[in-house]
Amino acid sequence: MSSPVLSLSSVEKIFPNGVRGLSPVDLSVEKGDFVTLIGPSGCGKSTLLKLIANLHTPSAGTLNWWGGGFKDVGQKGRRMAFVFQDATLMPWATIVKNVRLPLDLEKVERTTANKRAHAALERVGLGHVADQYPAQLSGGMKMRVSIARALVTEPDLLLMDEPFGALDEFTRNRLDEEMARLCYEDGLTTLFVTHALHEAAFLSSRVMVMAAHPGRIHAQYEIDRGIVRDETFRLSDQFAGISKELAILLEDASRDSMIGQEARQ
Ligand SMILES: Nc1ncnc2c1ncn2[C@@H]1O[C@H](COP(=O)(O)OP(=O)(O)OP(=O)(O)O)[C@@H](O)[C@H]1O
Ligand SMILES: [Mg+2]
Repeated sequence: MSSPVLSLSSVEKIFPNGVRGLSPVDLSVEKGDFVTLIGPSGCGKSTLLKLIANLHTPSAGTLNWWGGGFKDVGQKGRRMAFVFQDATLMPWATIVKNVRLPLDLEKVERTTANKRAHAALERVGLGHVADQYPAQLSGGMKMRVSIARALVTEPDLLLMDEPFGALDEFTRNRLDEEMARLCYEDGLTTLFVTHALHEAAFLSSRVMVMAAHPGRIHAQYEIDRGIVRDETFRLSDQFAGISKELAILLEDASRDSMIGQEARQ
């Protein structure tokens, strides 16, 4: 059997100022999983994602990427891409140049890089804005450009930290449908952070409900991968049932977080 994409064993993070960002976490992510982290502010969602992206070092425990250490990731031809809440585009560069950036940094030959950047823009439905500038795009379009910039590297693992948090519900729903298509149809493995329970219910194959004080995983909730994530699903009793069960788990995690906070005071 092949190694999981990610495996975390008793991974902990204590910051230099003594703040415990994350209590020991165990997590295994398989190819094609769509794992969502949800929980109250300060429960360690971003900390966990940054540990996985190797932007933080763990204080204890071990992380494995495709069965090896972080050093091996590039060598094995594996790729990770990170999408942040803010699109962070270069305002002076055209959209296609923005999307091409990771390939330019890797010194990919210009014609190939342009072809791949255009293809990535097509995948998020933005082929027609390739020669425009970020200021000419709406917030939702900028986020799609940022997703295209992540996809252009053909990542094996996509990490997203509240990518659609600043968008209106209508735009967010459309982008969630695009994400579902990319992940479930193309088999992209994704770790996704959100505050929105309905977004977690719509997108995930597994939801990790986290609690704070200290940050930890409170519960896991599996959702059938075979469900087609479309408008019909969003309006179904099944979706309502999943959302309700997640709401109960989240409520429970919030209560636990408050108890933890009171105990610390
Ligand atoms: N660089 C840092 N130095 C010290 N403490 C930090 C640092 N980064 C995060 N923390 C603390 O670690 C805890 C977890 O923070 P984190 O940013 O992971 O939470 P989060 O779940 O992503 O919250 P939010 O939903 O508000 O984004 C918080 O108590 C936070 O103050
Ligand atoms: Mg965060």
